[in-house]
Amino acid sequence: ESGKGGGAGDNHRSNMQGILRSGVAMAIMVTAEAFMSSPAMRVQNLRRLRSSGPVKRSSISPRMTLALPRMEPLPPLDGQLPDCPVTIWNTENIDVAAEQQRYKQEGIPESLLEIVADSEMNAQGLAYFENNKEMIMKHLKENGAVIFKNFDLSKTPEGFRRVWETLDMAPCLDPIHNSGLRSFLSSRDGVYEEVNKQSLAKHYIGLHNESTFKKTATFGAFVCFSPASESGGEFFIADGAKIFRDLRTDVLESLYKRGVRISVSNLDLDFLGALGPLKEPAMNFFKGLIGSTVAPKFDMDLDMIYGADGKPQRLQAIEHRQSPINRHPETGKPVWFCNIHNHARYLRNKRPCSVPEVGMTDVYYGDLSQIPHEYVDHINEISEKHIQNLAMQSGDVLLIDNYRMLHGRQTFQGDRLHAVSWFRKGDEAVTQGKPGNLLNSAVNSLIK
Ligand SMILES: [Fe+2]
Repeated sequence: ESGKGGGAGDNHRSNMQGILRSGVAMAIMVTAEAFMSSPAMRVQNLRRLRSSGPVKRSSISPRMTLALPRMEPLPPLDGQLPDCPVTIWNTENIDVAAEQQRYKQEGIPESLLEIVADSEMNAQGLAYFENNKEMIMKHLKENGAVIFKNFDLSKTPEGFRRVWETLDMAPCLDPIHNSGLRSFLSSRDGVYEEVNKQSLAKHYIGLHNESTFKKTATFGAFVCFSPASESGGEFFIADGAKIFRDLRTDVLESLYKRGVRISVSNLDLDFLGALGPLKEPAMNFFKGLIGSTVAPKFDMDLDMIYGADGKPQRLQAIEHRQSPINRHPETGKPVWFCNIHNHARYLRNKRPCSVPEVGMTDVYYGDLSQIPHEYVDHINEISEKHIQNLAMQSGDVLLIDNYRMLHGRQTFQGDRLHAVSWFRKGDEAVTQGKPGNLLNSAVNSLIK
């Protein structure tokens, strides 16, 4: 708010507003990369999908066409999705060694159930999902993941939605929807685009749960509309129960006792050094500014901290201390529930990583001290041992229990169109999502 009248005061003010604006924009862009957000919807891709109709004509026989009932259009979900539920933390008094022993004695069954449609199953249409709902949801809840392959129905956003609606899954917003950084592929069907954009095609996305300290989706449904046109881009999953079981007990105990903190964005404000005596107030100004205008958008309990990685003028947005192990909200069994495989800077530096310095993430102990590289290497090795690559084809749908299974994706070449919907448990009280779509569209139009 600036009053009338010229003079040096106003000049100074408008300069500060300029800095403020660019600071905020920078932080938004930075965090966009940090979260691996998707770009604006690729309109031509969606047009291509929509024009191909709910079922690819060439892939079905006339008999099957007759067998599929005519479907009424679904009502739009725009603005209807409730917020992503709060994270259910249950982390006290976990006897790490004893729980690992228990898993080793009891064994952990195969996490992923693969269901491959033949022409008869496809001819049933949605009835297949209706008739097998109980078996499908039981496997998902007890073992973590189900993949549907060769189904014709799920080759469009609307058909994909019909599948999860038939399974009675309750959609919700993405955990960081309110940041404005996630874009819908089809907002009318509650379907977000995955990270398909070219600028991040060569960036490996490591294992993570779709979760922040504050919010976690209960289930996720991932769909492939078109696999990478040249190579790569496989989606992958790993079972958090198996990672917990197989990590070295001393490494797990160290991280569990000391907790972890995830830094989600770096803002290098080295130019502040040139301000001489004004440096300190300027540093505080930025800390307050970003903390009060940008961080709340993420709804993540971020602290703005200078110098956590040894660079005094680096302002980092760091999540609160959290446990890397969480008891599963339904089974009560402890699982590895930690995004370090994706976020550790040490691992990112060794992999294909196209995120600019400002968007780099990192993971520290709860007191912000460094986790030994030897530990991070070990976590990497055990995580990768449990990674299952899934070469998804058009129409393939993967359901995961997001408190149990971690996910990521390989780098790719060419065009790729994968998408995702998020779900709550379904019987909890809901908060309606806040109107974040204007900001969402604005931000995504800036990130190409
Ligand atoms: Fe994700």
